[in-house]
Amino acid sequence: MCGIVGYVGGQQAAPLLLEGLGRLEHRGYDSAGVAVLGPGRESRLRVAKRAGRVRDLAERLPKRFAGKVGVGHTRWATHGPANDVNAHPHTDGKGDVAVVHNGIIDNAAALRAELTDAGVDLVSDTDTEVLAHLIGRSSAESLEEKVAEAVARVEGTYGLAVLHAAYPDRIVVARNGSPLIIGIGDHEMFVASDLAALVRYTTRVAHLDDGELATLTAEGFHTFRQDLSAVSRAAETVDVDPAAYDAGDHESYMHKEMLEQPEAAERVLRGRLDERFGTSHLGGLDLDARELRAIRRVKVLGCGSAYYVGEMGAGLVEELARIPADAEPASEFRYRNPIIEPDTLYVAVSQSGETVDTLLAVQEIRRKGGRVVGLVNVVGSAIARECDGGIYLHAGPEVAVASTKALTNMFVGFALLALQLGRVRDLSISDGRRLVAGLQRLPEQLGEVLAQEPALTELAGRLAQAENLFFVGRVRGYPVAREGAQKFKEISYRHAEAYQTSELKHGPLALIDASVPTVAIVPDDELTERNVAALHEVAARGGPLVVVTHAGVDLGDLPAQASVDRVDVPRNERELDPILLTVALQLLAYHAAAALGHDIDKPRNLAKSVTVE
Ligand code: F6R
Repeated sequence: MCGIVGYVGGQQAAPLLLEGLGRLEHRGYDSAGVAVLGPGRESRLRVAKRAGRVRDLAERLPKRFAGKVGVGHTRWATHGPANDVNAHPHTDGKGDVAVVHNGIIDNAAALRAELTDAGVDLVSDTDTEVLAHLIGRSSAESLEEKVAEAVARVEGTYGLAVLHAAYPDRIVVARNGSPLIIGIGDHEMFVASDLAALVRYTTRVAHLDDGELATLTAEGFHTFRQDLSAVSRAAETVDVDPAAYDAGDHESYMHKEMLEQPEAAERVLRGRLDERFGTSHLGGLDLDARELRAIRRVKVLGCGSAYYVGEMGAGLVEELARIPADAEPASEFRYRNPIIEPDTLYVAVSQSGETVDTLLAVQEIRRKGGRVVGLVNVVGSAIARECDGGIYLHAGPEVAVASTKALTNMFVGFALLALQLGRVRDLSISDGRRLVAGLQRLPEQLGEVLAQEPALTELAGRLAQAENLFFVGRVRGYPVAREGAQKFKEISYRHAEAYQTSELKHGPLALIDASVPTVAIVPDDELTERNVAALHEVAARGGPLVVVTHAGVDLGDLPAQASVDRVDVPRNERELDPILLTVALQLLAYHAAAALGHDIDKPRNLAKSVTVE
């Protein structure tokens, strides 16, 4: 949520900053801005910012925008609407200081009042502007001291980068709760809130921890704490393929990421299956068999789609390990003074590893002495680092706001966890082997679902015409319906409501008519007959049906005049089928949004990685 880039070195900063912002735009895309320190002894600060996309900013950048030191920002509005004034960078009004900031300053109102009382004219509605003024008004000797003084006054979260005209050779950055990564080049240095903005230039990086600051000059970096004492941060080379951050020939990142699911699933499985004992190996969990046996309950925490997959995961744990398990939105959990039990295993699930509600839930559990493991995609992210252990998802970078491949790997991660928990309990070796074989088949079957894209495109085009839709499922199928509805509304902006199929007749059936399609999840399991009966109730009321099921599932004699489309996905083991059904729904959502001409990677009002509460 919001993106930061910074550059200091021998090249012109503006083109590099704009390129970097383009790569971070999924994190916020309602406004963008850059600031550079111009050449010459007077090192003038130049700022350009505006509401809209990075490309709008690039097109209107003033001709004279030279400078080899600069910072840039792409915004997702929190304080004040998305307009030119509220866009970052923010300045101190004298043209000395420029600040870009991610996060939220909780005591901004008090600081604003204090500055206004002191005669400062604040021009924006943002919390960030106070930082520019605090730094600008500081009488400290060095920029490092000025920034350290300012952040010491701030309560809240920040990743920030600061330019000052009196210190034209450097950028000072600070981190507390919002990621910042330093990129190390050859006589040039970068900083960014996400690796995506760095990998084209360097894979040598250093991570800042919360409470730390750093100075970047062309020749290197120096990290320190708020009391200015030095702290050592070693550089490391990250093993990433810069091409993984490009959409390649795909029309969107979401399309690319959906199609990457078979190989992503192979990666999360690699080296983790044990055919002989019908179990999984999850070294990162750091729990031996005795500790695994001592677990009496599993509680899954995540937000949005990660929460819905968490519901699928809790179902898998109950089914395979017979341990009571449930999922709850992390955002709700931590506000109800949760009871933390010593024999409960808490599982935090997150693609970004940054979602603040999930992070704060993890911190709350650990503060009370609970044990949390993470199912996280981004290596080294805040949630991954806060957990006691975990399972990395190895989905690769996910850029589209709507999560697809990370979500599939979350499901597979849960299957691996449930298998291991089950096999130290009562799950038989034959059932264990059955599931291992099922997981081994899964990547290829994901490919088979994706191969149905042409047929699903046509169907999705028709669904896109409906203003309102139901997505229904039962037990294993219900979280599939919830996730399907979430994807659909997120990118098509249609009203898609998820319901338990069994609950339709207790109220929502009143809404069914020819204009309201029902997408029904009908797995081949012990509930098939009951599901099919509900389809008949919908069809009898003229409701169009899209049945997502498996070949051979008998839907009975639906009325001849009923509108019924059928999507058959391959069968795996019934415990693993939910993810195959989910991927079919991704394709429906994607092509509905495409038919409506939406900007699929950047749905309105949203952004990747929700780092604010
Ligand atoms: C939906 C979506 C969001 C995220 C949610 C959690 O497609 O992407 O609902 O799943 O914001 O994000 P992470 O997994 O990064 O914690």
